[in-house]
Amino acid sequence: MSYRFLSRIRPRHASRSSRNIVLMIVCCLALAVWPTGTPKAGIRGSAHDFSALTERQQICIFCHTPHDADISVASAPLWNHEVTVKQFQLYNSPTMDATVSQPTGASRLCLSCHDGTVAVDSYGGRPGVIFLGGDLGIGADELANDHPVSFVYNDALAAADRELFSPSSSPSGLGGTIQQDLLFGSQLECSSCHDVHNGPAATAVDEFLLVITQAQSQLCLTCHNK
Ligand code: HEC
Ligand code: HEC
Ligand code: HEC
Ligand code: HEC
Repeated sequence: MSYRFLSRIRPRHASRSSRNIVLMIVCCLALAVWPTGTPKAGIRGSAHDFSALTERQQICIFCHTPHDADISVASAPLWNHEVTVKQFQLYNSPTMDATVSQPTGASRLCLSCHDGTVAVDSYGGRPGVIFLGGDLGIGADELANDHPVSFVYNDALAAADRELFSPSSSPSGLGGTIQQDLLFGSQLECSSCHDVHNGPAATAVDEFLLVITQAQSQLCLTCHNK
């Protein structure tokens, strides 16, 4: 398990040695609190297990709460993390057929840590101090250079593009169709490619929390008919 984020300084400005020291301290902490043995796929011990930072080694609390949740983002699951209000520059190209919006739903939740403006440990009303940057700061350098998210991917888009599989009928490889397994109310979001909980599908993947393996570009070829 490697923790690249646990620096109070944004990685771009941090010296490597100071980062490594923080990293070593946290690794010791982690070894002290995590059960030993082969790690299973699942959130425990994954990149999103920040329990070493809490007094009672809680995992879910960084993102969820049973009560008094933040309901400002539509369909957010009992959200407990400060939500980013950043307006992003979005990806665009002459060959794009979809209409991409400011990140909504799950994507806005991801960006509430991965845009570098809200701290990882800003949850439950606490002011946090750990900010993401570098490779982990997906939205910190805007979204114009990232795979688009927060747009409708339906059969009409597939027909217009002619090199996309129809989501309502094409298999995702995970048991159902693209629509059923990879989209959120017809929208493509960060979670179309990533499982934030490193869930069951990740057993075979277990890399970058992806839902489908990158071997032979299987992930990309699930939607793109290239
Ligand atoms: C780093 C943030 C984060 C942590 C930590 C986290 N979740 Fe989530 N969770 C999310 C996000 C984002 C979504 C909505 C998007 C999605 O499902 O991909 C979600 C969705 C859910 C959902 C509803 C959708 C579904 O997958 O069933 C449940 C239930 C849930 N989480 C439970 C938990 C529990 C229980 C824990 C702790 C063991 C936990 N989560 C830890 C971010 C997190
Ligand atoms: C509470 C803050 C928080 C939220 C919310 C969050 N992440 Fe993360 N995420 C992190 C941190 C911190 C790391 C780096 C952990 C480390 O250093 O290993 C990370 C790492 C990752 C990684 C890299 C994993 C790896 O194995 O290298 C991916 C991919 C990722 N997150 C995607 C997402 C997606 C997608 C969502 C929303 C569905 C999301 N994250 C929501 C904090 C968050
Ligand atoms: C179309 C699929 C797709 C979408 C959508 C997507 N990602 Fe990723 N993401 C990937 C792949 C594939 C990788 C692994 C990249 C690599 O191999 O270097 C990755 C890597 C990452 C990493 C790790 C970067 C690193 O170098 O450590 C983070 C963090 C991440 N994604 C977050 C997000 C967030 C946040 C969103 C939404 C704003 C998102 N992703 C949307 C496919 C996607
Ligand atoms: C869940 C389905 C899905 C997955 C998985 C996916 N994409 Fe996409 N991707 C789309 C859709 C839909 C569009 C929007 C296409 C359009 O509107 O022209 C898109 C857009 C793009 C674009 C921009 C196209 C343009 O015209 O500018 C590129 C390039 C791209 N994807 C590459 C990838 C790569 C590489 C991967 C794998 C790492 C990947 N995609 C994974 C669905 C997906």
